[in-house]
Amino acid sequence: MKVLIGPETDDLDVLYAAPRRPWLRVNMISTVDGAATGDTGKSGSINNAVDKQVFHLLRAQSDVIVVGAGTARIEGYGPAIRPLVVVSRRDMVPDGLRDAPPGSVSVEPLGDPVAFKASLVERGWTNILCEGGPTLLRDLLAAGVVDELCATTVPRLIGGEHLRITHGPPVDVPLDLHTLIESDGTLLARWLVSPDSEPLASS
Ligand SMILES: NC(=O)c1ccc[n+]([C@@H]2O[C@H](COP(=O)([O-])OP(=O)(O)OC[C@H]3O[C@@H](n4cnc5c(N)ncnc54)[C@H](OP(=O)(O)O)[C@@H]3O)[C@@H](O)[C@H]2O)c1
Repeated sequence: MKVLIGPETDDLDVLYAAPRRPWLRVNMISTVDGAATGDTGKSGSINNAVDKQVFHLLRAQSDVIVVGAGTARIEGYGPAIRPLVVVSRRDMVPDGLRDAPPGSVSVEPLGDPVAFKASLVERGWTNILCEGGPTLLRDLLAAGVVDELCATTVPRLIGGEHLRITHGPPVDVPLDLHTLIESDGTLLARWLVSPDSEPLASS
């Protein structure tokens, strides 16, 4: 593992430390040609060992995990090491979460993303990790509530028809590269949403 941009340490806990709280980051993975899923239709078909390492580290650093209902359904989410907030318009509890311990999972509408983020913070969850998916990420970006995108790029080209890491109407979000780590050709980047980034008037 080599840090190309960022502090000279191989301590991932330091490399991924949130700079302040509240902090909302989204963790996503794609191939070099931009596919967010592989042949199984899940991100599990494109991820690898170092991505899994960061995935679990970010979970451990977080206070709460937010995920779109589509991702929770398709990826077969079960209870996690942190409280899980599943974002859904249809208020549907994904199958794998039906028997989750009381209080460990809630299904909530996004509503106003600014108010949604504030409600997480009010519950004491100031280090917020969102694991996508592409539709939810796009809506959070449009509302200007994302502080950071952790983007893993795996050294593969897969062609075909696949989602990208954002899906939905256009957004235009400038990013600043904060950290770039290389591990066996996999690039692990921390992109900070530029402070000059303006939310869309209507998202
Ligand atoms: N490469 C990666 O890093 C990565 C990460 C995550 C997921 N994925 C892949 O992405 C695919 C799923 O994509 P997706 O875009 O459908 O995922 P998604 O954003 O997780 O799911 C969409 C669903 O989430 C809910 N949702 C999203 N935005 C919402 C909003 N603004 N308000 C209320 N509810 C909202 C809705 O659920 P209801 O239908 O219940 O209302 C919507 O149908 C899967 O193949 C998954 O494997 C890839």
